[in-house]
Amino acid sequence: MGIIISGIGSYVPEKVLTNADLEKMVETSDEWIRSRTGIEERRVAADEQATSDLAYAAALRALEDADTQAEELDVIIVASITVDQVFPSTACILQKKLGASRAFCFDLEAACSGLVYSLEVGQSLLKSNHRYKKILVIGAEKLSSIVDWSDRNTCVLFGDGAAAVVIERDAERDDCILSTSLGSDGNHTEVLNIPAGGSRIPASEQTVAERLHYIRMAGRDVFKLAVNAMVSSSKEVMEEAGVTSEQIKWLVPHQANYRILKAVAQRLHIPEERVYMNLNRFGNTSAASIGLCLDEIARDKLVSTGDYVLLTAFGGGLTWGSILLKW
Ligand code: UT7
Repeated sequence: MGIIISGIGSYVPEKVLTNADLEKMVETSDEWIRSRTGIEERRVAADEQATSDLAYAAALRALEDADTQAEELDVIIVASITVDQVFPSTACILQKKLGASRAFCFDLEAACSGLVYSLEVGQSLLKSNHRYKKILVIGAEKLSSIVDWSDRNTCVLFGDGAAAVVIERDAERDDCILSTSLGSDGNHTEVLNIPAGGSRIPASEQTVAERLHYIRMAGRDVFKLAVNAMVSSSKEVMEEAGVTSEQIKWLVPHQANYRILKAVAQRLHIPEERVYMNLNRFGNTSAASIGLCLDEIARDKLVSTGDYVLLTAFGGGLTWGSILLKW
């Protein structure tokens, strides 16, 4: 009896925002953005689309891929830092849209590590309670709603999107998640955050005037911390499973910055052609990014049964984590 990924689906909004578009909004250049980040364009949701709408579109595709009806779901976990409202959870809002009446639903907040965290929580629920059979795990973000479009340090980096994964028990197959390593370090909350809007600094006219409801990031600090955390957790999951770098078919890192991804791959001795990247098209979509990659890898048949796929993520918190999959 193993736990398998039975379906994957993703969704990105139609509107494309190119580097050339950003040149008209802030003092930046296509050359700077490409050379420093690898990003060429990103998607931006329509005003009327909330994160749950992006999640819904991705979820429908994943359910179809898994040949599963929404009523069969036992649990829905939505990982996001751009929830529809502070409460109720976006997972509950999504439940209603899907008609997944049997499921219990909650949001999980681990920033860009959200999908990796949620996969671990989901598989643990399946393993610990035999009443649960099918779980929908989603990373969904409307980052355009929390980006300061006048701050060139951050606005060029982020994009909107959603990716959904169905995990379930399968009597015929072995576990597809071979090993997991998650970590957090609350000593670095200041390098990446949104200062206001919570109980510490509630929303007020002053917080709006001071632009405290937007993402703040100390890019260089995040860069260094990200590389170290992703490398060490990746090494841990490979060691635990007895799998070497040479055996990894795809390294699927959180799509933050191609220089970060290159540095991680180099230190893991994984050649660049086996590092999956789509950040040139979507930018950094936080909790959605790894799922967007997995969906493309699966749809384009870039992976076969038995291949090893290494997921690694890093985000605000700090949070990080790696998961080694056997496809
Ligand atoms: O999702 C997980 C969390 N996020 C990340 O993982 C992001 C991690 N950090 C990064 O990806 C990089 O640090 C950035 C892409 C954010 C920045 O790249 P960098 O090479 O670290 O640049 P920097 O912050 O050191 O800035 C270099 C210069 C600065 O000018 P001065 O002070 O040297 O005159 C910035 O003001 O580049 C300037 N700059 C820009 N110039 C043109 C910053 N943003 C821009 C911009 N266009 N968009």
